[in-house]
Amino acid sequence: MNKPILRKAIIHDIEGIYNLLLEFGKAGKLLPRSLSELYSHLRDFFVIATSKGKTVGCGALSIIWKDLAEIRSVAIHPDYQKQGWGKRIVEACLSESLTLGIYRVFVLTYEKEFFKKLGFEVTDRSHLPEKIWVDCFRCPKYPDNCDEIPMIIEL
Ligand SMILES: CC(C)(COP(=O)(O)OP(=O)(O)OC[C@H]1O[C@@H](n2cnc3c(N)ncnc32)[C@H](O)[C@@H]1OP(=O)(O)O)[C@@H](O)C(=O)NCCC(=O)NCCS
Repeated sequence: MNKPILRKAIIHDIEGIYNLLLEFGKAGKLLPRSLSELYSHLRDFFVIATSKGKTVGCGALSIIWKDLAEIRSVAIHPDYQKQGWGKRIVEACLSESLTLGIYRVFVLTYEKEFFKKLGFEVTDRSHLPEKIWVDCFRCPKYPDNCDEIPMIIEL
């Protein structure tokens, strides 16, 4: 198995990211994203990629408001899980948020224990009104069927 590296996404990673998110989306673990959405958010993404260019992990930092960012689309291919790659993706997103001067970062997730280990705490959705204005209104699961757990970290 090629030793992968963590880096910012490039245009050639998008189809790999799309397929990763699609697989986990089918399993109900996260929301899949369309190719057009991924192209327009390319600069949000970090990837774990092999030397042959295969995308085996991804995650994105999305700016929501002047003091709030969101970690989205964290996914590690099953063959590469439990090797620290998920943690490295989240840490890269948090580091980028600090660089941008945004000190509150949240995630909506089913993986509570993973994010807890990385310093996130469960919060109430009412503490994230900007997210609801920007995104949730457009989601088919809003407001009654959203069962993702909101978690936040203050940097
Ligand atoms: C959740 C996910 C990203 C974790 O990635 P990973 O690369 O396996 O995680 P890491 O190896 O970096 O784990 C970091 C730490 O979290 C722990 N951890 C990982 N997954 C965990 C889980 N499901 N429950 C509890 N702890 C978990 C690891 O044991 C490790 O702990 P340690 O630092 O004490 O050794 C991966 O399982 C995944 O892609 N899941 C499917 C998609 C998904 O649910 N994404 C979250 C969307 S927000």
